[in-house]
Amino acid sequence: MKERIKTVKSLEELQDLYTATFGKNGTMTAKLKNMAALSNEERAVVNAENSELRQLFRDKQTELENAALNAKLATEFVDVTLDVEPENRGTLHPLTQSLKELGTILESLGFEMWTGPEIEDDWHNFTALNTPEYHPARDMQDTFFLENKNVMRTQTSSIQIRAMEKQGVPIKMFAVGSTYRKEMDATHSPMFHQIEGLYIDKNITLSDLIGTLRELLSKFFERDIELRIRPSYFPFTEPSVEFDMKWDNGKWLEIAGAGMVHPNVLKNCNIDPNEYQGFAFGFGWDRMAMLKYGLNDIRAFYDGDIRWLKNSGF
Ligand code: DAH
Repeated sequence: MKERIKTVKSLEELQDLYTATFGKNGTMTAKLKNMAALSNEERAVVNAENSELRQLFRDKQTELENAALNAKLATEFVDVTLDVEPENRGTLHPLTQSLKELGTILESLGFEMWTGPEIEDDWHNFTALNTPEYHPARDMQDTFFLENKNVMRTQTSSIQIRAMEKQGVPIKMFAVGSTYRKEMDATHSPMFHQIEGLYIDKNITLSDLIGTLRELLSKFFERDIELRIRPSYFPFTEPSVEFDMKWDNGKWLEIAGAGMVHPNVLKNCNIDPNEYQGFAFGFGWDRMAMLKYGLNDIRAFYDGDIRWLKNSGF
């Protein structure tokens, strides 16, 4: 019997053997029942055998249970060193991210955000901005023309007109939105984005403009930004300037168009230019994001390639 217990291979087999030994008709049970007929010495032998067998069963049971557990652990082993699929967390698009940053800075400077329609009429996109029909400056912008003299907005400057018409002065606003022009290469997309700023009050000067842009750019790029102004031309500002910003490599980068709002533009919005004046500026929001995040192809913003978005460093 002892030998048999030792060779048992499964818990079921052990259970059967146990029943055959200690069950109602078991061999050991029979011996125990017969104890009364035995001498003291014989009883001692049976008792010893009884204890020894029970111990052997217990040991075998423990051994088989451990073996079963180990087998289970071996097959259910989790290899924590294996590569796992990275968790699919969403991130903000670089344009959304940079707009949030720029908007937060402008709001901290007291500018209020406005938006406007992307399909714009001739008045808001051109005429009110001192660019009447046949004005040569219309050629500066490769316009997508729609029916009824409507256009796809070529510039967010249209929103300054809407804001001044609606709110009047004083006004301190910025506008953001998509703009459209017939051009496409690595740095131009037919749809791109602009941010426009406008501040009109009684004592606004060109130095307010310079201070505002320096603050905005320095906060956005997180370092002191050196600016340079060049004279330029826009129909809606007089004087008109262009801002260059000194970049890491020492090069000057053209960053924004700006100027003091032209008296004709104020008049077009029923504002008296002898009483009120102010500045406006506009720049490419995509370009700002490209510079900040070191990207060199504007088209990547709109391809919707999730691999690019994941690796673009946001
Ligand atoms: N609208 C101009 C453009 O698209 C940018 C611009 C220049 C906006 C001067 C302004 C400004 O408000 O004052 O090129």
